[in-house]
Amino acid sequence: MHKTTMNWWQEEVGYQIYPRSFKDSNHDGIGDLNGVREKLPYLKQLGIGFIWLNPINASPNVDNGYDISDYRKILSEFGTMADFEALLAEAHAQNIKVIMDLVINHSSDQHEWFKQALSAPDNPYREYFIFEDAVDGHAPNDWPSIFGGSAWELDEKSGQYYFHTFAKEQPDLNWESEKLRRDILAMVAWWLEKGVDGFRIDAISHIKKAPFTLMWDAADHKRPYKNFQNVPGIEEHLQELQAVFQKHDALSVGEASGVSAQQAPAWVGPSGYFNMIFSFDHIHLWKRELGEKFNIPAFKHALATWQEALDEGRGWNALYLENHDVLRSISAFGDTRTEEARVISGKALALMYFLLQGTPFIYQGQEIGMTNFPFTAIDQIDAVDSRAHYFALLAEGKTEAEAIRQVGSTTRDNARTPMQWDDTTYAGFSTHKPWLAVNPNYPTVNVQRAMRESNSLFHFFQQLIVLRKNNEALLTGRFTELLKADPQVFAYTRTNAAQHFLIVVNLDRTPTTLALELASDAQLILSNYSTYETATLQAYEARLYQIN
Ligand code: GLC
Ligand code: CA
Repeated sequence: MHKTTMNWWQEEVGYQIYPRSFKDSNHDGIGDLNGVREKLPYLKQLGIGFIWLNPINASPNVDNGYDISDYRKILSEFGTMADFEALLAEAHAQNIKVIMDLVINHSSDQHEWFKQALSAPDNPYREYFIFEDAVDGHAPNDWPSIFGGSAWELDEKSGQYYFHTFAKEQPDLNWESEKLRRDILAMVAWWLEKGVDGFRIDAISHIKKAPFTLMWDAADHKRPYKNFQNVPGIEEHLQELQAVFQKHDALSVGEASGVSAQQAPAWVGPSGYFNMIFSFDHIHLWKRELGEKFNIPAFKHALATWQEALDEGRGWNALYLENHDVLRSISAFGDTRTEEARVISGKALALMYFLLQGTPFIYQGQEIGMTNFPFTAIDQIDAVDSRAHYFALLAEGKTEAEAIRQVGSTTRDNARTPMQWDDTTYAGFSTHKPWLAVNPNYPTVNVQRAMRESNSLFHFFQQLIVLRKNNEALLTGRFTELLKADPQVFAYTRTNAAQHFLIVVNLDRTPTTLALELASDAQLILSNYSTYETATLQAYEARLYQIN
């Protein structure tokens, strides 16, 4: 592929903003859209080309915006439509594109559609949701919700049950209803006509359900939710969505759990439904803080499998190590034991994923190496699923200390603590006590300091963004994994007819030998250590070579 034929989103880097925790402009403890506007120059300086905003639509916030009560309104805590339009205009003026979160597998139980649907079984909006009769006085089947408990909730008034993949306040929309689909697609077009550049499409692999007469197959640990995840027939709905995206030349990034690397070309190939999808195979390997060892061979294998499946134009990867649902990557895969180790391992992880083939996403705070929060009590945790998990553990007989240890080391709130801008109270996020506590490491880990220190993670990310943009082989070059059997070194090349790059990363705390013959003209372009020996990799040592 020649560079001139590339799409803008292949060359650029994305930056994910969790607005509630990014920057609070009016000091009520909650981040907002004007806060994002304030920080656009910072993002420009980092070098990113587009931002993905987590949901900003009207919502009762049972699942922090992933329960939408009005698709065409802005959540008042975040600001107004005028604020959003100003953000869009200012971002565009700085050449930053804006994609929104599109949450269309489910709505909120406070959405007008659902209120109407509940009002009477013959209400025209009843078909917008999934209502089924009880079976022998029980839920229609034994399928579990991803957030715990049954996926069915009783509507006492009618005696029927409605389906919810996530919390019961997030009723699933019925994609089998043509009227529903028409309303959703019109709403999508409405945002695109407003000038939005595209969407990250939430939980989209769940929109098709298997027949409800199927029992849940608890034995299938690999895909426990397969009855409502990437179910055959989903392609028809996805094609309808794709047509709207294409008509508006919109960027589409699907969140596609349950889609395998082998299936991915159908989703993101030249005629795929989306431009890219977020896969989960590598991210699910983040159990270190529970005392389990990070499984490096499985991690390498997961990443390489997706690279190989989509190489040579078969598709395009969305590259990420963090988002609002998972742990901070340095806590999960790196080393937080010392300040030096935090920065070194953060750089190793950055170099490792940034130079794979695909579009890298940086999650807010990742660029300064934010880490997990030392949770000690349940009142420090907000996430709906984590709270339910905690109380379920207590009910099982676990002590509070055991329960908080387990939930605290896995909760999504680790990634949702306020962005650390400087070393003043509340880390410069707000002057008011934030909705979620600031990580106590903010005096050391903050933007102001990272920008001041030339050796910081921030500057390392900046360099990676520039390197990627300026070297076509790092964008579209072929991916080849080396040292496949090495238990701790991830090594790969990115090559095209003109350029040859080699990436080697030690993903462990223990040093190891680099079992590769380096070409005599190999030139070290970037590394995270100032002194090194060619044949040995120090803890989390990472290098980029150019060989020509
Ligand atoms: C996605 C979102 C997550 C949300 C869920 C339900 O997985 O990333 O934050 O809770 O969908 O909408
Ligand atoms: Ca605010």
